[in-house]
Amino acid sequence: MSHPTTPAPIGVFDSGYGGLTILSEICRQLPQYDYIYLGDNARSPYGTRSFDVINDFTLQAVKYLFDAGCPLVILACNTASAKALREIQQHYLPYSEDPTRRVLGVIRPTVEAISRFTKSRHIGVVATPGTVSSHSYATEIGKLFPEVTVEEQACPMWVPLVEYGESNAPGADYFVEKYTAELMQRDPKIDTIILGCTHYPLLRPKIREALPESVELISQGELVASSLADYLLRHPEMEHRLSQGGEISYRTTECPEKFEELASIFTGTEVRATRVKITG
Ligand code: DGL
Repeated sequence: MSHPTTPAPIGVFDSGYGGLTILSEICRQLPQYDYIYLGDNARSPYGTRSFDVINDFTLQAVKYLFDAGCPLVILACNTASAKALREIQQHYLPYSEDPTRRVLGVIRPTVEAISRFTKSRHIGVVATPGTVSSHSYATEIGKLFPEVTVEEQACPMWVPLVEYGESNAPGADYFVEKYTAELMQRDPKIDTIILGCTHYPLLRPKIREALPESVELISQGELVASSLADYLLRHPEMEHRLSQGGEISYRTTECPEKFEELASIFTGTEVRATRVKITG
């Protein structure tokens, strides 16, 4: 069994661009580390795919990042976290060549924070159809806060709106109002809504406008980043395995030029990417 000792970057994986909203916040809170961001843009979106397919794709991505040396991988994608994280943690990692490597998701750190926000104890979750059909949010909330009522809403049009650069356009209003109204009609007592998809922070102004002011919106980036910071404090054995150069390497399974153009929507800065293959 080989446990590499050379310090290496943290791997951050998403189906495409959305995880960049999480990476930005991680880098803001933990700028000292190196990161490899991997977007499986050639096969995104994951949100409308089946359980088995998301499992396979996510495992391939994790193996790629492990092979690149990363001892710690963050699944910065709700759909991958919902559908593949448990499988990887329970059925892949313990039997892999180095079981001390870790894969963490974005759902648990988000759920852990909800009690700071809700007073009515009625929570809404907006997410991709894949995340909603997994009921991962409802399950995790049920484990930590059994008294909280959860209503989940699939918003299949929101990812394409963001990816086509339409998040600020008037056309986005219809779909933002449609899904938020459906959710609030099902449970008018909701006072807190989790934006359970990496793309939704870009629609936040429109989502905010469509909801009563009293409803709190929870974005994940900050929560995931502080949870990672806390994890590294509690796990010095992992922290020592991380390289500290403040560098980010962007990798995509699609053409890099396309990635670079769209990534700027998510990061607000210019990035340089390389194309990689992650399939067997
Ligand atoms: N990154 C995905 C998520 O957070 C959204 C994009 C997709 O469907 O692949 O669920």
